[in-house]
Amino acid sequence: MVETILDIRGLSKTYSGRGSAPPVTALDNVDLQIRKGEIFALLGPNGAGKTTLIGAVCGMVRPTGGTVMAFGHDMARDWRRMRARIGLVPQELSIDMFDKVHRAVAYSRGLFGKPADPARIEEVLRTLSLWDKRDAQLRALSGGMKRRVLIAKALAHDPDLLFLDEPTAGVDVELRRDMWQTIGRLREQGVTVILTTHYIEEAEEMADRVGVINKGRILLVDDKAAIMKRLGRTEASFALASPLGSLPAALFGYPVALEDGGRSLVFRGGDGSGLGKELVAEIAKLLVTQGIDFTGIDQHESSLEDIFVRLVEDEGGQQGASGGLAA
Ligand SMILES: Nc1ncnc2c1ncn2[C@@H]1O[C@H](COP(=O)(O)OP(=O)(O)O)[C@@H](O)[C@H]1O
Ligand SMILES: [Mg+2]
Repeated sequence: MVETILDIRGLSKTYSGRGSAPPVTALDNVDLQIRKGEIFALLGPNGAGKTTLIGAVCGMVRPTGGTVMAFGHDMARDWRRMRARIGLVPQELSIDMFDKVHRAVAYSRGLFGKPADPARIEEVLRTLSLWDKRDAQLRALSGGMKRRVLIAKALAHDPDLLFLDEPTAGVDVELRRDMWQTIGRLREQGVTVILTTHYIEEAEEMADRVGVINKGRILLVDDKAAIMKRLGRTEASFALASPLGSLPAALFGYPVALEDGGRSLVFRGGDGSGLGKELVAEIAKLLVTQGIDFTGIDQHESSLEDIFVRLVEDEGGQQGASGGLAA
């Protein structure tokens, strides 16, 4: 049976506008259930409400409405005890650069009232490949190591649930891969991870399940593979050797259309399961048997990014128009 570690119901947050600014609805009636042991990616553009959601769970943001149950307890009633079981790596780097690695991480453990446990701190530092750097000052570390120190600090009190708010925002590709490996190792150790990101590839790479959020509303939550299967699509364009005036009868019933003045035959269909590729191969054979010559096939599978753009377009949002995620 799947155990729910975090159960969010009807969570809303409206920030009252400063001065004459209108109020902002950052979370709009959010329902979300997180399963024990999973990596869940909350994917959405900047301003979608991701950080507010984390803040509302961890107690930095006072919700306007709704409930948060963590580990079967109401966070509003049992906040201190439940918060001690949650680790948070905030979006903004907030560390004392003159502090030393080991001390900074050990100190974080104490913040939650846990007794000192040098063996556990060593284990955390080793997991994050920081043990050799335990006596280094934070300012002497590379960017990637600084980020790992933040994770170590968040893990120092042995949380069962870890939030990573945009763990790789603004870092280079190599560092991002390094972070993904680190997160993968945490999962192996049984930590449930909720990460927020505006990078599609991050959700695609890391997550077991993905939730798409925009303008404070959850648009979709599903297994990553199911999202791909449900919304994935193959697009293939056959470049025809000579233009066609009309669709050959043999192709009736296939999701194909003539484009570019009859010079391209375009297929859009299938799902994320490989069906699209099979259909494209079938159409290629049909074209050959019909004596319709083509000079090339340009084929691609829709990515989570395409899917996201489509979802947001359906919402009538503006993000789809620009096609991008990052602000
Ligand atoms: N303290 C605040 N006061 C007023 N508005 C805020 C505050 N924090 C966030 N917002 C607004 O709430 C919305 C969601 O912000 P945020 O949760 O930070 O989104 P994300 O983390 O997805 O980028 C945005 O419109 C943002 O401007
Ligand atoms: Mg944020």
